Amino acid sequence: QAAPMIDPFGRAVSYLRVSVTDRCDFRCTYCMAENMQFLPRKDLLTLEELERVCSVFIDKGVRKIRLTGGEPLVRKNVMVLVRQLGKRIGSGLDELTITTNGSQLARHADELYDCGVRRINVSLDTLDPDKFTKITRWGDLGKVMEGIDCALRAGIHVKLNAVALKDFNDVEIPDLLRFAHSRRMDLTLIETMPMGEIDEDRTNRYLPLSRLRADLEKDFTLTDIGHRTGGPARYVRVEETGGRLGFITPMTHNFCESCNRVRLTCTGTLYMCLGQNDAADLRAALRASPDDGILSAAIDEAIFRKPKGHDFVIDRTGRPAVARHMSVTGG
Ligand code: GTP
Ligand code: 5AD
Ligand code: SF4
Repeated sequence: QAAPMIDPFGRAVSYLRVSVTDRCDFRCTYCMAENMQFLPRKDLLTLEELERVCSVFIDKGVRKIRLTGGEPLVRKNVMVLVRQLGKRIGSGLDELTITTNGSQLARHADELYDCGVRRINVSLDTLDPDKFTKITRWGDLGKVMEGIDCALRAGIHVKLNAVALKDFNDVEIPDLLRFAHSRRMDLTLIETMPMGEIDEDRTNRYLPLSRLRADLEKDFTLTDIGHRTGGPARYVRVEETGGRLGFITPMTHNFCESCNRVRLTCTGTLYMCLGQNDAADLRAALRASPDDGILSAAIDEAIFRKPKGHDFVIDRTGRPAVARHMSVTGG
């Protein structure tokens, strides 16, 4: 097992998030504008190149890889990459996983399991079919529910992610919680982050999770537990349901001091922090030589520049703190 890469603040980088496409079949209103400019297709890394970069990261000590998007399952032939990376589970990798909107999950669930994927995260902000169509602009809740069922039936653990949105799903959180826990799924709530221009003002939707937690505590007993997944969520046990609830609080409780991750885009750009613009061009390093030495050195150099943390703030200007959309780096 390779020694972990250590950043300038002493943090071990063991988690690589790979956005295999910035495209998505939904346009969640808090994430994207209706008319999005996507990255040019000609700039995409091939699946073989993505695998090569991942493989070098594993050799350099990465233990967990998550494929993200956009929507990872809309990338053509993405399962070829999943299969290849799955071969590294147990020989370098502890975990291969994906974060998906679930729209295409029904037809991929069995194969994901077969490739070694044991845990996935599905984004689900509401259980109301009309509200679901509204927030995703045209998504079909039934399809996502079918996808979740297929994943569970395949033996994959599912975590639901819900972005907390004022006057949208704030009153629905108890329902989401009961739904998740009735199927033995974890639920994590996420504070909306100011990334990328969208068609509305995020300020009006922003909701600090402390408020939701206080609301929930009127009906549920929440006990802090030390459960960790390598992600940023802090978990509580919900005594009434026996399930886990996670809080991802980039805005109100910065978790950067324990950051263990970096993000690769589908064009081979490495972002060392979700909330910063500094990036490294791994595509150039990758294509400079068939030998991995240049790529490996470029990764070292990038990790050496990993910033201390993000400086997201929700301000009244409504302007995003970071111009690129979440879908470029997959969150
Ligand atoms: P687990 O492995 O289940 O813990 O998942 P995860 O939380 O690492 O991944 P997921 O894709 O489910 O991410 C959930 C949310 O957390 C997304 O909205 C991400 O944008 C956010 N998130 C993940 N890592 C970071 C981070 O380093 N900084 C910030 N600000 N947000 C993050
Ligand atoms: N702030 C917080 N979460 C976001 N997501 C997309 N855009 C944002 C944003 N601006 C979420 C998606 C998905 C996860 C990967 O990121 O809902 O669950
Ligand atoms: Fe697509 Fe996820 Fe963004 Fe929704 S949040 S538009 S599902 S990438």
